[in-house]
Amino acid sequence: MRLWKDAGHLIRLVLLLVILVVAFLVIRRAVIPEGFGRYGHFRPAALEEIRMRPVHFAGRAACEACHSDVVEVKKSGKHAGLSCEACHGPLGKHAEDPEVKPVLPKAVALCGRCHEANSARPKWFPQVNTKEHSGGESCVTCHKPHKPKFGE
Ligand code: HEC
Ligand code: HEC
Ligand code: HEC
Ligand code: HEC
Repeated sequence: MRLWKDAGHLIRLVLLLVILVVAFLVIRRAVIPEGFGRYGHFRPAALEEIRMRPVHFAGRAACEACHSDVVEVKKSGKHAGLSCEACHGPLGKHAEDPEVKPVLPKAVALCGRCHEANSARPKWFPQVNTKEHSGGESCVTCHKPHKPKFGE
């Protein structure tokens, strides 16, 4: 028994360790979300939560189903490859209910986003110094936004 005579501090240490390990396991159980680990390092319920979020973009097919007149103009022009919502912004609400009137995009800010001269853009891409080029007029006084090449 001589061996254990002065073991009080060791026992306290072991007890403390046990308490810490138990506390760790309890907290871990409480904070780890259900299903964690089923698909690796991921919380499966997140998929459902993301799916519940409102959808802002309707997608090109939806716009084209109702606006065939615009599609007709656009398909032979230089903007044929652009999606409607790349310029009009997310219009999911309007596509669901056409009574929700979209605000038309302001040309100068919109067109400049892609066409403002910038040495970082590829050389082949049509770009202009918008201020000098437009002389302060709106781009759509001369260019049709859905078929923009001048004179087409
Ligand atoms: C269910 C049919 C439908 C869908 C889908 C739809 N629209 Fe419309 N849209 C309409 C109707 C109807 C009007 C109002 C008619 C009008 O004034 O020309 C309208 C009006 C607009 C206007 C305003 C026109 C103006 O003169 O103010 C824009 C811009 C527009 N739609 C763009 C879009 C885009 C972009 C999409 C795809 C995200 C889209 N629409 C999807 C039916 C639809
Ligand atoms: C390059 C950008 C761009 C793209 C791509 C684009 N639009 Fe537009 N759209 C505009 C601008 C800018 C106006 C406003 C023109 C103005 O102010 O007169 C406009 C106007 C409209 C209008 C109002 C009526 C009219 O014809 O002027 C409708 C409807 C419309 N867009 C639908 C669409 C649909 C549907 C698509 C996809 C098939 C589409 N747009 C693709 C830029 C774009
Ligand atoms: C989202 C990017 C984007 C926006 C916004 C955009 N464009 Fe374009 N534009 C393009 C692309 C891509 C082309 C095709 C380039 C090519 O293939 O040569 C193009 C082509 C053009 C051309 C033809 C140039 C030529 O002579 O070949 C003109 C003009 C033009 N756009 C004007 C406009 C105007 C005006 C607006 C605003 C109403 C606008 N663009 C908005 C991407 C954009
Ligand atoms: C006063 C009429 C007018 C206005 C306003 C105007 N443009 Fe133009 N734009 C033209 C003409 C004409 C051409 C074709 C001749 C040329 O290449 O300069 C052209 C050509 C272009 C091209 C093709 C350049 C290339 O290198 O092929 C782009 C891109 C363009 N415009 C964008 C815009 C944008 C963006 C705006 C608004 C900030 C705008 N334009 C306003 C008349 C106009």
